Amino acid sequence: MSLDYKRVTTNVLQEMKNNNEKITMLTSYDYTLAKIVDNAGIDVILVGDSASNVMAGHETTLPITLDNMIYHASSVVRAAKRSLVIVDLPFGSYQGDSRVALESSIRIMKESGAHAVKLEGGSEIIESVQRILTAGIPVMGHLGLTPQSIYKFGTYTVRAKENAEAKKLLEDSLILEEAGCFSIVLEKIPAKLAKKVTNKLNIPVIGIGAGVDVDGQVLVLHDMLGMTHEFNPRFLRRYLNLFEEINTAIQNYAKDVKDKKFPNKDEKY
Ligand code: KIV
Repeated sequence: MSLDYKRVTTNVLQEMKNNNEKITMLTSYDYTLAKIVDNAGIDVILVGDSASNVMAGHETTLPITLDNMIYHASSVVRAAKRSLVIVDLPFGSYQGDSRVALESSIRIMKESGAHAVKLEGGSEIIESVQRILTAGIPVMGHLGLTPQSIYKFGTYTVRAKENAEAKKLLEDSLILEEAGCFSIVLEKIPAKLAKKVTNKLNIPVIGIGAGVDVDGQVLVLHDMLGMTHEFNPRFLRRYLNLFEEINTAIQNYAKDVKDKKFPNKDEKY
């Protein structure tokens, strides 16, 4: 059982796939929540560029910067004693020029202390993947719905429903494995295709909106805790309704202050 490991590594994830043990992954962007996620025994913490939406309130993941990602990643790394910490390379920090991709990855590893990086795309970014790997930095791929390409897709709908796109996705997944990625994420694609890719690949495949027949699952922490409520894709299961709970707690506090019930006689010096 993976809870026995002192630190989850990329080798541990491979062992888990080989032993048919599901891999758990959640996002975190700050010290306090990452500490809870790590303590709960989640195998992988992803410092996702979804921080752009969740933490900064941007409409897309495009505006977040490398410096922003390093700030979030450093906070998470300080909290994670057991989980493997993977950091998204943000938009503009790896496409086009593989030297830039390597520089960005080295900054993430050096300045945050994270354990691996994640990039969106297949054959188009393979030079970047290869160059990052030459520095001994583990790379996770990301195929299917790739939110950094939202202006190309025009919509956040399910990807690879048509044969041509499904074929390219399968080819890209093999290219990423061949290049040396230790794992890939498949986002919002038909469950049947995700199963096919998972069976074809030797490396672990982590799904989000990709059905149950993958090697592990990832969700955005704030979504599964119900802190966000405007985002309701079919694949999302909310385990709490923290928006409501926090709202009630804050209203109770405000009422106590207004009614002069907080602080009471014991809550003072
Ligand atoms: O940025 C992110 O949170 C992600 C996950 C949705 C996989 O890439």
